[in-house]
Amino acid sequence: MIRLLIVDDIASTRDNLQKLLSFEEDMEVVGMAGDGRQGLEEAHRLQPDIVLTDVNMPVMDGITFTERLAQELPTSPVIIMSVQGERDYLRRAMQAGAREYLIKPFSHDELVAAIHRVHELEQKKTATVVASKAPAEAAQGDRAPSGEVIVLFSGKGGVGKTLLATNLAVALASATKARICLVDLDLQFGDVGVMLNLDHSRSITDVVDAGDTLDQDMLNDILATGPAGVRILLAPISPELADLVGAEHVRSVMGELRKRFDYIVVDTSSHLAEFDLEVIEMAHHIIVLTSLTIPSIKDAKLSLKVLESINIDPSAIMLVVNSDNSHSDFNRESIEQNLRHPVALQLPHEPRPVGDSINRGAPFVALHPETEITRAVQQLASLLVPEQLAAAAAGAASGGGDDRSRKRRGLFGR
Ligand SMILES: Nc1ncnc2c1ncn2[C@@H]1O[C@H](COP(=O)(O)OP(=O)(O)O)[C@@H](O)[C@H]1O
Ligand SMILES: [Mg+2]
Repeated sequence: MIRLLIVDDIASTRDNLQKLLSFEEDMEVVGMAGDGRQGLEEAHRLQPDIVLTDVNMPVMDGITFTERLAQELPTSPVIIMSVQGERDYLRRAMQAGAREYLIKPFSHDELVAAIHRVHELEQKKTATVVASKAPAEAAQGDRAPSGEVIVLFSGKGGVGKTLLATNLAVALASATKARICLVDLDLQFGDVGVMLNLDHSRSITDVVDAGDTLDQDMLNDILATGPAGVRILLAPISPELADLVGAEHVRSVMGELRKRFDYIVVDTSSHLAEFDLEVIEMAHHIIVLTSLTIPSIKDAKLSLKVLESINIDPSAIMLVVNSDNSHSDFNRESIEQNLRHPVALQLPHEPRPVGDSINRGAPFVALHPETEITRAVQQLASLLVPEQLAAAAAGAASGGGDDRSRKRRGLFGR
C-alpha cells in the first residue's frame, strides 16, 4: 500500500483527490491538511510514503512546506500540484526538493503514474543504499564490479553525444575509484577514437572474430586505454565492417564488460538498431540528449516515446539539454513542459574549451577543469554514481568546499 498525505487549502480539492485515489488498489489516503504547517504536523505523525501538496496556501505555503519536509522527513517525498501560471513557484518548489510536479488540471492517469514513479524511485533508492553498503566496505580493488550501464541516446546526430560520453567517462574515472569502460556503438562512424586521439588497432570487430572464445584476457587486449585509465571498446576502423557486428555480439561483450567494470558508458549512433534497444533495456541510466532546436526536441520526444513503448522506467531516463549558440524560443521550462520529463542538467555552450579539446584529442574535463561545461559534466557524473562515490565526485569537482553536486542529486534525485 502506498500511504498518501494530501495538503491543499481548498476542501473540495482535497475531497476530489481522495475520491480519485480511492479507486486505486495499492493506494490509501491516510491524512489531509489545509496548509503547510498542518501538513508538517500530519507528516511527522503519519510518516506517509508520498505527500501531495498545493503551492498557494495560507499560514505556510507549499514551497516552504516542501523545503521543511525534504529536510525533516526525507523518506516522505513530495509531489507538487500547481496551476499553469505558477511556473516560477514551481521551479523553486523543485529546488526545495519536490520529486515530481503535476500541472492542474491533471488527469487521473497522470496523477496515478506520478505517484507510482515517485514510489518506485524511492524504493529503488532504499535498495541501492542497502546494496551499495557491502561492497563499499571491501577494498576498492577486489570489490565486485557493479556493472552499471549508462547509455547516451538521441534521435539526432550532432547534438553532442560523443562529446558528452567521452568527457563523462573521464570525469567518472577521475572523481571516483570506479572502473570505467567507454563503448563506441556508433559502429559506422564512431569517433570516440579520434576524440581521445587513440592509436589502437583493435575494436569491436575483434570481439566478433573471437566468437564464443571471448574471455577476459582477450577483452583486455581488445580494449584501448584512455585518459584517467578509462578503458575503451572502439568502433570498427571502417564503416563497412559495422555490418559484421550483430546484436548477439553486443550482448555477449556487454555481459563480459559488466563483470569487469563498475560503469560502462555507451555512446550510440542516431540510427536505432536492435542492439541499441538491447543495451537500453539493460541500462541503469539512459541519458537522452537534446539541443534547443525544434528538430532536436521533436526527436527527443520520439526517443522518449520509444523508451516508453519498451517499458523503460521513466526514473531511469535523464533528460540533458545541450545548449547551442542559436537563439531559441525554448528554455528549460518549456522543454520540460513539452517533453513531460524533468531536465536533469543543462550543458552550457562553450566552443573554446570544446574546440580546443577536439583539436588536441583530449577531453575538456582534463584540459579545462575550470570551465562551466566541465563543472556541468562533473555534476552529471555525481548524479549518476551512488552516494559514496558522489561524495568523492563532489569533493573533486569543487576542490573540496562546496556540496553543489550532492545538493543537485537531492533536487532531481533520479
Ligand atoms: N556544449 C557544447 N559547446 C560547444 N560545442 C559543442 C557543444 N556540444 C557539442 N558541440 C559541438 O558539436 C559537435 C558534435 O558533437 P558530437 O558529440 O560529435 O555529436 P553526436 O555524437 O551527438 O553526433 C562537437 O564536435 C562540438 O564541436
Ligand atoms: Mg557521435
